[in-house]
Amino acid sequence: MRRSSWLTLGMAAMLGGVLAGCSERPTEMAAVPNADRVRQAGDTITPRLVRQLAKSRNITAYPRPPYVRPALARLGRELAFDKILSGNHDVSCMTCHLPRYATGDGRSLSIGSGGQGLGPNRTQPDGINIPRNAPPLFNLGAMRHLFWDGRVEVDGHGHFTTPAGAQLTKAMTKVLEFGPVSAQPMFPPTSAAEMRGTSGSELAGFTDNDATQIWAALMRRLGRIPRYRRMFEEAYPGKRFDDMNFAYASNAIGGFIVSEMTFRNTPWDRFLDGDDRALSQRQLDGAATFLTLKCSLCHNGNNFSDDQFHNVAVAQIGPGKGNGGSGLDDFGRMNVTGDPADQYRFRTSPLRNVELTGPYGHDGSIVDLRDFIDHYSNSDQKLMDYNPAQLIAPLRNTVLDNMAAVIAARDTIILGVVLTPEIEDKLMDYMSALTDPAARNLSRLTPRRVPSGLPIDK
Ligand code: HEC
Ligand code: HEC
Repeated sequence: MRRSSWLTLGMAAMLGGVLAGCSERPTEMAAVPNADRVRQAGDTITPRLVRQLAKSRNITAYPRPPYVRPALARLGRELAFDKILSGNHDVSCMTCHLPRYATGDGRSLSIGSGGQGLGPNRTQPDGINIPRNAPPLFNLGAMRHLFWDGRVEVDGHGHFTTPAGAQLTKAMTKVLEFGPVSAQPMFPPTSAAEMRGTSGSELAGFTDNDATQIWAALMRRLGRIPRYRRMFEEAYPGKRFDDMNFAYASNAIGGFIVSEMTFRNTPWDRFLDGDDRALSQRQLDGAATFLTLKCSLCHNGNNFSDDQFHNVAVAQIGPGKGNGGSGLDDFGRMNVTGDPADQYRFRTSPLRNVELTGPYGHDGSIVDLRDFIDHYSNSDQKLMDYNPAQLIAPLRNTVLDNMAAVIAARDTIILGVVLTPEIEDKLMDYMSALTDPAARNLSRLTPRRVPSGLPIDK
């Protein structure tokens, strides 16, 4: 980390100290364009320079996703859209990861079980009951950590760490073919707030921690639907439905996500694959800006995420994760590791299709993409001046006054970052190069019917 910080400071300064706070100017800047040219003149930014910068930040094109058996992806799709996995048959995975909202819900914070309506119009008698923003499901095959706090995690040896502890047995993990994204679907159905509900079904009597019993009950439900039995046995040739556990369902949803929600036909990926004309001059210029600013210290690798946890001074809104004196705070990664050094840290967000996936941040407290970029400029001040008028009415008076504590723990990487409107324009141009046109309309993902016959949210 130390070494790459150095690199950035060096490089930003070489390109003319585009960031205030990068006052050190190495002497070896001879052959590199000066600040004004970087700011104004597209002519100095060549494809070659941008490819070099990308390489120096280890930013690579997105790899081809693994092969997913069509029968497995089909099963995963039906399960993802089927409300049969919720206690009261009222919520499916896709209720919060709607094709219409780029696999999010277009809300700062989601509403789960017991909700009415979809997307921004969704309401629930008890109000907003989920403390975090529903992230998009794009390109998750690349991530080692899932969830904003990374609580579903696989290490280099294929060892899973999840909230279920030993309840996720060996017999289950050996079924999970696509890493964390195959394990993650085990969890929403166990959560009373998201899918299980607190009354009205055979699942209501459990607590969120009774994963083993909840998973078994869900398999009993699925086993009563002949079409599911058939689809499971087609997806896992040679295995009888009665010998399967819920990991087989979870893995199928993971396979669906990997096969249908991997997007790599962006102008940026085509550029990295060798097409000099894939980016407009403005996007090329924007790329050079992103790659020389500190952004790419955290947003790097093939999915624009270091898969690590940082505190970038995002305001806290909504019901929170039960942390702090008020219970309304969200300590992020610290809730997983118990390490106070992880307080307020969240996983670096991947950025492909980011134009389409607002609101932004772990709690969706920043609604517009440009505002999220702008918040990196003097971020401490931006946090203190946070404007709740951008939020829907029920959230406006929920801004938590934890700002001094967040700033005290804020990642020093973003200290002193100042972005001019021109630089923000360029960053926006670059963000537009990260969109795969095929992600703009995802209606093709929605099945016409699901085996339970329940209505479909899309
Ligand atoms: C009530 C809304 C809701 C429902 C229903 C729901 N999710 Fe989510 N999903 C969320 C929220 C909110 C998060 C972020 C939670 C967190 O990080 O603590 C999330 C996170 C995820 C992630 C992690 C993404 C990442 O970038 O780390 C995946 C994958 C996912 N959900 C898939 C599913 C699947 C599969 C189902 C059904 C089994 C499901 N979700 C049901 C709201 C929902
Ligand atoms: C210190 C590491 C770090 C740096 C530097 C950084 N980011 Fe981030 N970025 C993050 C983290 C962590 C999040 C999620 C924060 C949260 O939700 O609390 C994030 C979130 C985002 C998001 C919102 C994505 C979403 O889906 O919600 C955007 C857009 C973004 N960053 C762009 C940038 C740009 C542009 C820069 C450079 C000006 C930058 N980032 C610099 C770590 C970083």
